[in-house]
Amino acid sequence: MQFDILTIFPEFFVSPLQEGIIRRAQNEEQIRIGIHNIRDYALDRHHMTDDRPFGGGEGMVMKPEPLADNLKAICADDGVDTRVIMLSPKGAQFNQEAAQRLSKYTRLVFVCGRYEGVDERFREKYVDEELSIGDYVLTGGELAALVVLDAVTRLLPGVLGCGDSATKDSFSCGLLKHAQYTRPRIFEGIAVPEILLSGDHAAIARYRFLESVKLTLERRPELLKATRFSKAEQKILQQEGLLTRIESIVNEYRTESQVTG
Ligand code: ADE
Repeated sequence: MQFDILTIFPEFFVSPLQEGIIRRAQNEEQIRIGIHNIRDYALDRHHMTDDRPFGGGEGMVMKPEPLADNLKAICADDGVDTRVIMLSPKGAQFNQEAAQRLSKYTRLVFVCGRYEGVDERFREKYVDEELSIGDYVLTGGELAALVVLDAVTRLLPGVLGCGDSATKDSFSCGLLKHAQYTRPRIFEGIAVPEILLSGDHAAIARYRFLESVKLTLERRPELLKATRFSKAEQKILQQEGLLTRIESIVNEYRTESQVTG
């Protein structure tokens, strides 16, 4: 996959993209990342990428022409399956489902907004979607672009060492991931759960599944409304007396979303 990032702070990306799995994915040519300085496309004498807002008000607005010229320079009509994404607190909430969806494109272009925003005409004409990484305001879209790039990259075939690690992530199957343990067997008086040392793979799988369900019930019960349990899983939940509780929570959220939606 090709990633292109349009930013006025290209240096911002140097170190984060040179570490761990993202570094390896570049070395193995599973991903390519182009960092583009929007300022290189600001053709006035002072290379201005921003200006005062029409109608007055605080702060500066990013000008549309340098952004459009930058975009055209990197991907004008080359037929590559491209998605142009603007990072902004006004965007739709980024989540694992969005990461899965975006991982199917051949190229993702991230436009990192700064200041009070980006000229609306650029968004209208060139941006396919706007994404936010959470309900808080960052100083710009750069950190958000890194978050999306990271989450998408680890879903690409062959990027994670072990083939199926991404399928067992929190969120991928509608449940939070169970707790993990490694050596030593006893740490500061706390022992690893006995069953994990038993070598009984079926019992361990069952234990971990139940741990995931309990954790999700405790911390993010609303996720359960989208979780699909297999017949075998439903049987385990029934045996553990969890099925009715989950069903009532799901109904509660359904009714709530019917009322609010
Ligand atoms: N730019 C500023 N805040 C942001 C956020 N929460 N998500 C994405 N881009 C942003």
